[in-house]
Amino acid sequence: QKETTILSIKKAEKPVVIDKNIYGHFAEHLGRCIYGGFFVGDTSKIPNTRGVRNDIIAALKELKIPNLRWPGGCFADTYHWKDGVGPQEKRPTIVNTWWGGVTEDNSFGTHDFLNLCEELGAQPYLSGNVGSGTVQELADWVQYTNFSGKSPMSDLRKANGRTEPWKVKFWGIGNEAWGCGGNMTPEYYAGEYRKFATFMSDWENTGGLTRIASGANGSDYNWTEVLMKNIPLNMLGGVGVHHYAVINWSKKGDAVDFNEDGYFKTMTSALKMEEYVTKHAAIMDKYDPEKKVAMMVDEWGAWYEVQQGTNPGFLYQQNTMRDAVLAGSTLNIFNNHADRVRMANLAQCVNVLQAVILTDKAKMILTPTYHIMKMYRVHQDAELLPIDFKSPEYTFEGKTLPAISASASKDKSGLVHISLVNIDAKKENKIEIDLAELGLKNVTATILTSKKLQDYNSFDKPNAIEPKEFKGFKNAKGKLEVSIPAFSVVVLEGK
Ligand code: AHR
Repeated sequence: QKETTILSIKKAEKPVVIDKNIYGHFAEHLGRCIYGGFFVGDTSKIPNTRGVRNDIIAALKELKIPNLRWPGGCFADTYHWKDGVGPQEKRPTIVNTWWGGVTEDNSFGTHDFLNLCEELGAQPYLSGNVGSGTVQELADWVQYTNFSGKSPMSDLRKANGRTEPWKVKFWGIGNEAWGCGGNMTPEYYAGEYRKFATFMSDWENTGGLTRIASGANGSDYNWTEVLMKNIPLNMLGGVGVHHYAVINWSKKGDAVDFNEDGYFKTMTSALKMEEYVTKHAAIMDKYDPEKKVAMMVDEWGAWYEVQQGTNPGFLYQQNTMRDAVLAGSTLNIFNNHADRVRMANLAQCVNVLQAVILTDKAKMILTPTYHIMKMYRVHQDAELLPIDFKSPEYTFEGKTLPAISASASKDKSGLVHISLVNIDAKKENKIEIDLAELGLKNVTATILTSKKLQDYNSFDKPNAIEPKEFKGFKNAKGKLEVSIPAFSVVVLEGK
């Protein structure tokens, strides 16, 4: 058996750009994502801008986050946006029925979210309420956020302190309509979608609203088929897909205390993304061969048991090297399918599921997944370079997974980036990149790895896992030989 894998990177015949929105995030009114996470209120001692923590803003700017999805998730189909605008003392309290049954005082609302997106330089992605909301309510939200002329909703916005519209482009029409969004059949939802979408006028010249259908759960290909068949393409900007990496929904396993069996199962579930994206894309191709409609994987990430002693409805979990490897592999899948996948949203941004940021009172830490997002930001809006290679296998108890995942791109300045993940829990893998066609020189590299897969950044040791310079490669006669350590992620850069 040959020990070295040959990887050849070609110039694409037909250029495909990796949409920066693949590097999107998600913030739901769930647990400590918004309240006690992003939002501490403007009277907090924690330095903040209009109530949002400055350290979180700075960390997300560093990631160049392109978009942020809000307010859910399942919460979105219970959310009535008018509850969250206007004077605080007049805002009603509601119960967050999906997430812990906690009381929500609506102190973080539309203005807070859209102003935050402006501050971050990120596009807002609003999830509209279809399950328990009305067509009028969603149409009003569009008018409220996007119309600059005189109208009932723009007058209300102005009365609430904001003159200029925000011009929100991305609009989800419901969330998980097959489940928490209303337990609908795809046929019924397609009808609802058409009705809601009709009244969401493009109030401003946003270049057209991107209306996004609530998509399939993992391998539910019938869902995508029915939506593509029944919704006119000119009403459809994107179709969602949700897939969480989970060992078993009834026994999800601990986020930190896991063995190789748990790791292998998590990665098996995560790498299913390749098959799901490929098959949903094939269905979309049938109805939309020109690929006008985007696939938007607007929820993805790892889902474990909540950290012991925390509220089971708050979905708080730690984040280890397993999550970093998972994020690197998944982002490579999205990059390689950039012709169709044009948005993705990691669930979720702060303190929930596979978070990039965790907070504990005034403290904040960046997780290994954060560092992957930072290392991969170089792919945003760069041209995809197709890769051809056959991965070696990662074998565990007779079962196998591809050990290496890779994607490559060339940015506007001509810099080439190659992101490589070795998921093998025990074995280093060697690859050889043929540089002839790219003519790469002056290669440098960064690595994220650690001693143990179970390692993580804690509030006591916030920098235990950080990207480091990587020297495990050499240029030998036009070939770049790279030795990728077990469970590590490497990004190479060259010109
Ligand atoms: O991200 C947590 C939840 O997972 C979301 O609210 C829902 O859409 C999905 O089931």
